[in-house]
Amino acid sequence: MNSRREVVSESHDQDLKTCCANVYQSDWARLLLGDSFHPGGTALTRHLGDLLHLRPNQRVLDVAAGQGTSAIYLAQCFGCSVVGTEYSQDAVERASQAAQIAGVARLVTFEQGDAEQLPVSGASFDAIICECAFCTFPNKSVAASEFRRVLKAGGQVGLSDLTRQGEMPEDLQGLLAWIACIADARPLEDYVRYLAEAGLTVQRVEQHDEALSDMVRDIQGKLLGTELLVKLNKLHLPGEIDFEQAKTMAKVAATAIKAQKFGYAVVTALA
Ligand SMILES: C[S@@+](CC[C@H](N)C(=O)[O-])C[C@H]1O[C@@H](n2cnc3c(N)ncnc32)[C@H](O)[C@@H]1O
Repeated sequence: MNSRREVVSESHDQDLKTCCANVYQSDWARLLLGDSFHPGGTALTRHLGDLLHLRPNQRVLDVAAGQGTSAIYLAQCFGCSVVGTEYSQDAVERASQAAQIAGVARLVTFEQGDAEQLPVSGASFDAIICECAFCTFPNKSVAASEFRRVLKAGGQVGLSDLTRQGEMPEDLQGLLAWIACIADARPLEDYVRYLAEAGLTVQRVEQHDEALSDMVRDIQGKLLGTELLVKLNKLHLPGEIDFEQAKTMAKVAATAIKAQKFGYAVVTALA
């Protein structure tokens, strides 16, 4: 039987996942981030696909696939088939629709599922990608073991994620920061260790910090534009947003990136 502590921490983890999924399926996320919810957009997804040598007839798993943009893009670029798994059922429905509209529904499908308990069989994928999401998983060791479980022998994982050096600035420790994938960002060595401890052999590590600064600059511009439109009564948003808090967070993040306390990295590993 689970102890009370385990039950409390389990329900805390579920709350975090649900909250994160709710935010990323909101109109807000699309307004500020567009379709691709990670630094570097589809260009970095393409690079990840190149590093993994994706090709037709391969089965690829996109863990925490969001709106499905990367899954659809990989199928279009490399001709591989892609299964996207995602915590949010709403996002799964939108992503499936997007695959239909893009004419790739034969190659790309989506399923609701937790990255810490992937809804797919063992040893069934040639490659996994996971973009800007690993840092939001409360139990990173379990997620890494799930990657290992579902990869075929010789399969590869390509992770891209936020990295942190040193202590987290206080402004970036709250719930909003968690959802923005910042609060539990780890040093690059931690990601390497999670994959290695799950039995994967890390092959390549790359820094892509400029992709993160570009994204934060873009968000800062969109926040200012949106705030102005709201003040001029030209835009009516569903629900309230604390512009001051969001702008402060973006500013603190921009400063931390400049000071090289935050970055974005790609890690590939072999099963
Ligand atoms: C920053 S978005 C990245 C989405 C997508 N990978 C992309 O790059 O466009 C993080 C995504 O992780 C999903 N997510 C968070 N926790 C999850 C979990 N435990 N299992 C599956 N998906 C999760 C969220 O719902 C959200 O769609």
